[in-house]
Amino acid sequence: MAAVRADKDQLLGPDIAKTAGLPTVPAKKSLRGAIRVCQIGELRHVNGMAILKLARMGHPVLLGRAAPVEDATAPEIRRLLADMIETLDDAGGVGLAAPQVHVPLRLFICKVPERRTSGAADDAPLPLSAVINPELVLDDGETIEDWEGCLSIPGMTGLVPRAARVTMRAMTASGTMFTRAAAGFHARVIQHETDHLDGILYPARLRDPHMFGYNEEIVRFRDDIMASRPDVPSPR
Ligand code: NI
Repeated sequence: MAAVRADKDQLLGPDIAKTAGLPTVPAKKSLRGAIRVCQIGELRHVNGMAILKLARMGHPVLLGRAAPVEDATAPEIRRLLADMIETLDDAGGVGLAAPQVHVPLRLFICKVPERRTSGAADDAPLPLSAVINPELVLDDGETIEDWEGCLSIPGMTGLVPRAARVTMRAMTASGTMFTRAAAGFHARVIQHETDHLDGILYPARLRDPHMFGYNEEIVRFRDDIMASRPDVPSPR
């Protein structure tokens, strides 16, 4: 998922886990030393990473159902995650799914910057984390519309309805299963990235095709949009 507003957050700055109120644990070295993975799934840069080519909308790798990861701790998965971190850092954004770098496997990386959180329960900041083989249960209650972007659809943004709350069961990069309840922007990012693993890009989720366009134009004409849709967040 791309940050609609340029995301200049330090990707892996000073101990984000601490500021997020998450438990901090000693990092252990990966098999190749390409990345280090904390027990909470936080990913850290180390060295030897590469920027991968991004697949753009129209490429068939973005349209298929990705295959499950068989061994989350395999060296090739660590290498892929390391390269995805580098790629996301270079492109700017809050999430990147493996099919977006031409690898049809069920994993993504994502983060939730503090400024995108509401302070509500299950809507806390999240340091850059790996999510492997996710299974989502959408809360069938409230749906929220908000503006999304995607690194595979550069320069565009659209108003996408998403479940306000989800429960996700998945595996960390260290191979630990976890279950997480998420709300707000966190829930939105998880749904956007999991959609990538099922070959779904956000334009397919639009409720109103008029609420889609070049980000610069949408922001430029946001007063018109807000006049017709005062119920939705202002484009950023
Ligand atoms: Ni995306």
